[in-house]
Amino acid sequence: MIKILFIGDIFGKPGRKVISGLIPQIRKDEQIDIVIANGENLAGGLGITPKTAKQMFDIGIDVFTSGNHLWDKKEIIKILPTEKRILRPANYPPTVPGNDFYIFETSKNIKIAIINFLGRIFTISVDCPFRTADKYLEKIRSETDIVFIDFHAEATAEKMAFAWHLDGKVSAIVGTHTHIQTADERILPQGTAYITDVGMTGSHDSVIGIRKQDALARFINRIPARFTPAKKNLKLNAVLITIDEGTAKAKSIERLSIPFE
Ligand SMILES: [Fe+2]
Ligand SMILES: [Fe+2]
Repeated sequence: MIKILFIGDIFGKPGRKVISGLIPQIRKDEQIDIVIANGENLAGGLGITPKTAKQMFDIGIDVFTSGNHLWDKKEIIKILPTEKRILRPANYPPTVPGNDFYIFETSKNIKIAIINFLGRIFTISVDCPFRTADKYLEKIRSETDIVFIDFHAEATAEKMAFAWHLDGKVSAIVGTHTHIQTADERILPQGTAYITDVGMTGSHDSVIGIRKQDALARFINRIPARFTPAKKNLKLNAVLITIDEGTAKAKSIERLSIPFE
């Protein structure tokens, strides 16, 4: 059995604090084989930097998925061509910097493919995630049947449809991007673990990670305002998924929302 811990968008320094405080122990207690996290908000809530990524790799995150905010901090562009553990959504144009999929090998030599896609509703126009996913699966099959997907998308219907499209073809599909954890985790009939959104790791005394006063000013005044990550009511939002390595089917999915401090 393979145990995957997937962590929802880590938001700024408060989010990184939760990771440092909780992940080493959870990793040990639960005997996790791989820790995957969405890192698009790792640095100041917008983007990811080489320094913040390294800090998280050292603590025990194995692979980062991302989303629309991956390129917000310019320093990351330099390392994306060589740092294969930071993924960009695979349905962006192929000329965009960032790795499109990653094959991780566990300590028991089991290969897990990790891919990230961006949804197209209320986001930006990118290649069709459905057809792009089909193409990638053909390519990855020769390496492994165990496939984990982070679908970074806004609309719940698009996420659910994507999961039905791939049920039985991949081991797990988790949603990210809204920063709000949904309570619909389940194993679909053909053996794919699914949740619409894993949520956000950081301050929950906030508007999706941002200080309430900053977000309110933007909504009420309708002009751009500076965003600062909020600091209180810290929580880890994650899912723990087990997969049968013989069949590549999911056996369980458990939703985690753990307060920190
Ligand atoms: Fe995010
Ligand atoms: Fe996002």
